[in-house]
Amino acid sequence: MLDWNPDLYLKFEKERTLPAKDLISRIEVINPKRILDVGCGSGNSTHALKKRWPNAEIIGLDNSVAMIEKARTLYDNTKFILQDASKDLSSLGKFDIVFSNAAIQRIPNHDVLIKSLQNLLNDNGILAIQLPLVDEVKAQQALYELEHVKKYKQYLDGKSIRFNTKSTEYYYDILSSLFKPESIYIWSTTYTHAMDSLDDILKWYESTTLVPYFDAFQDDEVISNFKNNFYIKLKNVYFPRPNGSVLFNYERLFLVASK
Ligand SMILES: C[S@@+](CC[C@H](N)C(=O)[O-])C[C@H]1O[C@@H](n2cnc3c(N)ncnc32)[C@H](O)[C@@H]1O
Repeated sequence: MLDWNPDLYLKFEKERTLPAKDLISRIEVINPKRILDVGCGSGNSTHALKKRWPNAEIIGLDNSVAMIEKARTLYDNTKFILQDASKDLSSLGKFDIVFSNAAIQRIPNHDVLIKSLQNLLNDNGILAIQLPLVDEVKAQQALYELEHVKKYKQYLDGKSIRFNTKSTEYYYDILSSLFKPESIYIWSTTYTHAMDSLDDILKWYESTTLVPYFDAFQDDEVISNFKNNFYIKLKNVYFPRPNGSVLFNYERLFLVASK
């Protein structure tokens, strides 16, 4: 599997960290001792946790070598471990907060995953998750259209490139079976990112959603052809504002619950 490009990912650090900060603002724990950041990436969400709770022991966990290396370089006062979140994590011990910003959409079987994350919590511990809701994102719709083009379809068939995000009902049912029902908060927010240019939307996608597509194509010529056609599609649905910015709307789902 192609690895992430942390530098390209961090080009939009401000936009990507904003939902993490919003999620943190809804966690009502005064003095947590241990916090786990699942799918910490290059450490930006972990750093936001550290700023909010400087005295807590915080562990960032990710299964990307490139992302963990970048996180270690950027934040040498925090522990980052290379581990797959879909595997047994019980050896990490118990936490007061298990946090995950924009990561579990990559992991299948959210019923199993959320149960495993709940197991890591102390009593009264908080699970706080954010994951993207992409179906209404215009760039995502453009991408889905391209999937049907014969040239690409042959590479994509049978590959799991879709996010695993499910409905609010699905998450409510899981959370209410594992957490105090009165402690559950579920909400969504659409962020309007003012991008400098259309090119930035392409770069945003290149640094995240397109990675599994490129992985399926392997071939540089197909990748470059796909990128060109994706860009043409973006041009048909995003139009610059009078000051040149392009508004990129991106919806995100938030889940918070206490054990
Ligand atoms: C979009 S980034 C989010 C990074 C960071 N949390 C943030 O707020 O910007 C998603 C991260 O999830 C990680 N990830 C995906 N599947 C994972 C898994 N099974 N175990 C651990 N990390 C995973 C990826 O490697 C990537 O670094």
